[in-house]
Amino acid sequence: MKQEEKQSVLISQQNMTDRKGGDVFILGIESSCDETAASVVKNGREILSNVISSQIDIHTLYGGVVPEIASRKHMERINPVIRQALSDAGMTLSEMTAIAVTYGPGLVGALLVGVAEAKAIAFATQKPLVGVHHIEGHICANYLENPDLKPPFGALVVSGGHTHLVRVLDYGRYEVLGRTRDDAAGEAFDKVARAIGLGYPGGPKIDRAAQKGDPEAIEFPRARVSGSEYDFSFSGLKSAVLNYLNACRMKGEEIITENVAAAFQKAVVDVLTDHAARAIEEFGFETFVLAGGVASNTALRAAMEQKCDELGVRLYRPSPVLCTDNAAMIASAGYYSYIANELAGSDLNANPSLKLGER
Ligand code: KG4
Ligand code: ZN
Repeated sequence: MKQEEKQSVLISQQNMTDRKGGDVFILGIESSCDETAASVVKNGREILSNVISSQIDIHTLYGGVVPEIASRKHMERINPVIRQALSDAGMTLSEMTAIAVTYGPGLVGALLVGVAEAKAIAFATQKPLVGVHHIEGHICANYLENPDLKPPFGALVVSGGHTHLVRVLDYGRYEVLGRTRDDAAGEAFDKVARAIGLGYPGGPKIDRAAQKGDPEAIEFPRARVSGSEYDFSFSGLKSAVLNYLNACRMKGEEIITENVAAAFQKAVVDVLTDHAARAIEEFGFETFVLAGGVASNTALRAAMEQKCDELGVRLYRPSPVLCTDNAAMIASAGYYSYIANELAGSDLNANPSLKLGER
């Protein structure tokens, strides 16, 4: 028997022992974009630690995430962040049942840091390794605060890199109903914020400015993708905002930033809510979850609450700290893969364009 095969037999014997009844402690590692994060989660639901080292300050200087800087920062931060996560949980590496890591989608150089780290830890400690899809992680963030939440349900994942409408059939089983054809919702927030001088990251800044603006002051388009009712497109909306700003400047008209923010945000929220409501009706979801950074948006939250109330659907959304990138959500998703015995091999690699449901 080759050394590698022996190792996997050892690991699977250990899995069986854990699965017989002991608690499962997962060390989650996340480095797909500009947050270096590590967390210890018990049995997929209970956060024992959640350490997030954000690089926002440095990327703000450039108006957005600079991939090479992100990778270098992950390299600097990853060991201290993991050490902190273990110490906050009051546990050691040897007490972890398995190591879970985001292996895609995301920035390849950034992902590689987390994947290489997780592989090294798994190799040195002889622990099982689990590869997690980043969007699956965002969806699983909802399990961390809601012990009663169980599939099936519908999910709207709206982040800086993704806009997905998903049918969650079971733990680890997803059907993507729709996705963006161009910009992600959060990306549109970030680009429009930059255009109206609010800076990076745009989502929270537009959210705040919009609270003082009139969403009806400007009429921006609500795009539909012909032939695929659940897909999204936000690049036309972004261009409409840029055209509006140019026209105002050429005519010497005043630009009321708060109104642009409110009208743009309303256009995004209307489309997201409308798609989600149609999916709820078509698939008969009794439960629906929001996930991803844009799920912190005040207007989206309010619109979805109202819509779900009307439709008699239970709505969940993570706390803001669990909406944006974190490793607790990766540990939760990793737990469900682990108990299903879906483990990664020692050849796990970063996959920047990994599709949801793909292994
Ligand atoms: O989930 P996340 O941390 O990263 C990705 O996986 O992409 O999401 C970050 C995105 C950014 O585009 C940010 O502008 C947006 O989430 N965001 C928001 C809000 N807070 C963060 N967008 C709208 N309203 C917010 N309150
Ligand atoms: Zn994310």
